[in-house]
Order: sequence, then structure tokens, then C-alpha cells
Amino acid sequence: MYFQSNPGPARELAYQEGKNISQPMLQGIKALPSLPQVLNQILSTMEDEKSSASDLEKVIRQDQALCSQLLSVANSAYYGFMAKITTLRRAVVVLGMSEVRKVCLGAGIFNMFNRSRVKNFKLVEEQWAHSLAVAEGARILASRTRKADPEQAFTGGLLHDLGKLVLAAYFPEELKAVNQLAASQDISYQEAEAMLGVDHEDLGISLAEHWHLPPMLSEVMGRHHEPYPDLTYLELVAAVHVADCLAHEIRPGDDNQIMLPFPEALKALDLDEEGLWWARKRLQKRAQAIEALRSNLL
Ligand SMILES: [Fe+2]
Ligand SMILES: [Fe+2]
Repeated sequence: MYFQSNPGPARELAYQEGKNISQPMLQGIKALPSLPQVLNQILSTMEDEKSSASDLEKVIRQDQALCSQLLSVANSAYYGFMAKITTLRRAVVVLGMSEVRKVCLGAGIFNMFNRSRVKNFKLVEEQWAHSLAVAEGARILASRTRKADPEQAFTGGLLHDLGKLVLAAYFPEELKAVNQLAASQDISYQEAEAMLGVDHEDLGISLAEHWHLPPMLSEVMGRHHEPYPDLTYLELVAAVHVADCLAHEIRPGDDNQIMLPFPEALKALDLDEEGLWWARKRLQKRAQAIEALRSNLL
């Protein structure tokens, strides 16, 4: 079923009423562990233009598990290098700071939702596969349109549905109920959420607050279904929003929905039909690489 990514009357009402999160969900967010220091430091190097490769190396070296995950991804088909990368220094030199940060953030946040911590790992895995596709799509769109930084777009795509990831991990029954309602009533996922008093964007904002994530990421997590021109990081949110639509189109999820890009988002990216077609093809071609990234991160 196709849906215009417009929130619809039910969703608008829910949004006006403020945070649409039940008390148990809010408490669930607060009970989540803090974001590891190393991930906060990696995020800081993304925002600080003066930070160097050796600064980043020092940060990552504090966490041996993260180092080995980075090397595993560096040697995967996602990058397709012929020569084996065996040290952190080499990985930073060959991949560059931007790629290293992307992989470490992905791995670090994946670890927060690992098998031993969550109620339904299969749902979490599916959610990650979607997030990685959106991350790659947002990176492709940012590179093509030059309207947003490709690294920030990838990170935004990776984290955009963290609220849904919280649902998949800790409130799987609620997530399934939303999916079932959307399918049975032929309504959008967002409308089904509003009817059941769940809101993955508001959950995302709460998690961003809990983890002290930068405002840029908080806006992506909280507004990727409503890329209105009032946003501070409109182009970034628009890139994630359009990538989200493409990812749903290429690989529909449990809610079996296909979302049409919001016209304001296409306008913000200066993206016409041809550009959208090109980005869709490019994302389809990256399917194997995305799968390689997923299997080396999980
Ligand atoms: Fe979403
Ligand atoms: Fe999404």
C-alpha cells in the first residue's frame, strides 16, 4: 500500500498533544544504559573540524571490542579491499576518519541492543537491516545533491529509527500491534501508532536526550516523517526521509508499507524524478555491500 508521508489528521493531533509515550516506555528509556563514553567522544570528533586522525585513533583504542569490529568491517565486502587491514592505524589511514567513525558508531550502538539485552532479537535485526539501508541511501543522496554532509547523512540514517529499535527490543508486542493495525485497517504506520498511543519519533527524541546526542541527530530521530521547512537541519532530515522512503520501497518491512517522499523534502534536496531514480538504482546496487556490513556488525 502506498502512503504519502503526510502525518494525516490522527498523527497531527497526536503531535499537538506533545510526547506520545506511555509511562512504562518512558521509564524503559530511562533504564537504558548511558551511551558509552567512547561513542560520545567519537561523536565529538565528528563535530570538531580540528580533530585529527590520531585523536580518533586514541579514542577507539580505549575499546578493544570496537577495534576488532572495525577491522572485521574494514576487511569485509562492504569495502572490498584486496589487501588485508590488520591494525587500527592502517584502518584509519586506508578508510579515512569519516568511514572509521561511521563503522564505530554503528558497531557501538548495535552493541547497546545485543542479543543478551533485548526481548526480541529477530525484530531488532530486521530493524537494523532497514536502518543500514536508510544510512546508505542517505549517504548516496547527500553525495549526489551536495545538500548535506555524507557522513552525517549516513549517521542520521543509521539512527533515524532508534525509537522503533527501542520498541523492537523492549516492547515487541506493541510494535507488532502497530504493524497489524496498519495492515488490517489499511492506514499508515504513523496513523496506527497514533491510534495506539505509541510514537517512535517521540521515543527517539527521548532516547536522544537520554544519550545526550547532538541536536542534529535528535531532529533526524524526531522529525524524519515530517520534514517541514521549519527544521534546523532540513536538508539532512530530508535526505534521511527520502532514503527511508526508498528503503521501504526496495525492502518493505512487516508493516508492508511503501511511503512516497514528502514534496518539501524533494524540494529541499533539489531532487527531481531522474535524481530519485538514480538514487534508487544506486541503493539497489549496494544491497550486497549493505548485507556485508550488517553481518560484520551484528
Ligand atoms: Fe521512522
Ligand atoms: Fe525508517
